[in-house]
Amino acid sequence: MENTIKLLGNVKNPKTGKTLGDEERWVNAEANENGQVIITYKRDGISPQEKRQIEDDIVDALKSQYDEDKILVKTVSSSETPSAQKPTAAHANLKVGHGVNGNKKRIPNVKKVIAVSSCKGGVGKSTVSVNLALSLKKLGNKVGILDADIYGPSLPLLLNKKGVKPEATEDKKIRPLEAYGLSFISFGLFIDEGDPVIWRGPMLGGVLNQFFFDTKWDELDYLIIDLPPGTGDTQLSLVQNTEVDGVVVVSTPQSVAIADTIKGLKMFQQVNTPVLGMVENMSYFSPDGKEEKYYIFGKDGVKNISTELEVPFLGHIPLEMVMREGGDSGKPYMADDTYKDNEGYASYMDIAEKVAKIGKEKGFFGKLFK
Ligand SMILES: Nc1ncnc2c1ncn2[C@@H]1O[C@H](COP(=O)(O)OP(=O)(O)OP(=O)(O)O)[C@@H](O)[C@H]1O
Ligand SMILES: [Mg+2]
Repeated sequence: MENTIKLLGNVKNPKTGKTLGDEERWVNAEANENGQVIITYKRDGISPQEKRQIEDDIVDALKSQYDEDKILVKTVSSSETPSAQKPTAAHANLKVGHGVNGNKKRIPNVKKVIAVSSCKGGVGKSTVSVNLALSLKKLGNKVGILDADIYGPSLPLLLNKKGVKPEATEDKKIRPLEAYGLSFISFGLFIDEGDPVIWRGPMLGGVLNQFFFDTKWDELDYLIIDLPPGTGDTQLSLVQNTEVDGVVVVSTPQSVAIADTIKGLKMFQQVNTPVLGMVENMSYFSPDGKEEKYYIFGKDGVKNISTELEVPFLGHIPLEMVMREGGDSGKPYMADDTYKDNEGYASYMDIAEKVAKIGKEKGFFGKLFK
């Protein structure tokens, strides 16, 4: 680690020309069991463009020592820097293995973990999770999906596997099910629909941890996590314990409220999880064979908020009856090539390409996070 610290010595704040060490911005450098090195610095007053420049410079500085895709750069603002980690002198504050991410674990065998989140319920999170997973698969990726909604699991229905019980592997791990070329696991596969919801709460931590760390995924390029709605303790503990590479926030143009959105984004900020962007679902409706668009829930609500918060806008998904029917009948929309000329189909492909691209560029924090 000493060498890592030395290599970072020349990384500068492009705005001031001073090194990050001179500006006492370094918070932590640590290596984890996956061979990754995680560098954390304070981003106060640094714009998204400058942030990208700094990230590039950090990667350049370290690439002689680590593979580029093993170098992770994280940022914190002063208000979230624990006082024990406050730097006392340039570089001296770099500690090994005591970072803000110290307790987060990576899900084994998964390259990128993407959580799909929403502030409100019923906006189409599960539908987007499944169809985004299928679109990423169409781009040539191996994709899994994990239903973390313990109170209202919907994946067994959406993927037509209701009542199927997952098997244990020889080493007593959970073997995910396969559907439409996706691997998936859901709490719904372990309970009967009639079971009272009340006992689910206390089980939550244990069950989710088992899902995250005891499911034996075959090598996956992406694991999509369908989160429960809102920003409750469940979501927070989930993202605190698991290394999530990026978040996709879903909303309808109507149900997007700036206060809720900021609250949601802040939750991810607290745990250093990049927000890849926002998706507007149920954007408009066009009757069959007609050009007109009816903006039933208002126009561009999500797009406008994402512009305001400088979070990437990933795209509009129209209301299509076949999307709802596909969900209810366990045959997801993007698994059915009949719809390949529909606008929704093109939107999903476009969103998947953007997610892959933005994710590759190591995620993105909005203006909110300066
Ligand atoms: N673009 C769309 N066009 C038509 N129907 C849609 C669309 N998006 C979602 N739906 C339908 O809306 C309903 C709610 O969607 P979904 O269950 O995916 O929402 P959710 O955000 O996951 O809900 P919850 O908060 O309960 O988990 C479902 O019946 C789904 O089929
Ligand atoms: Mg859902």
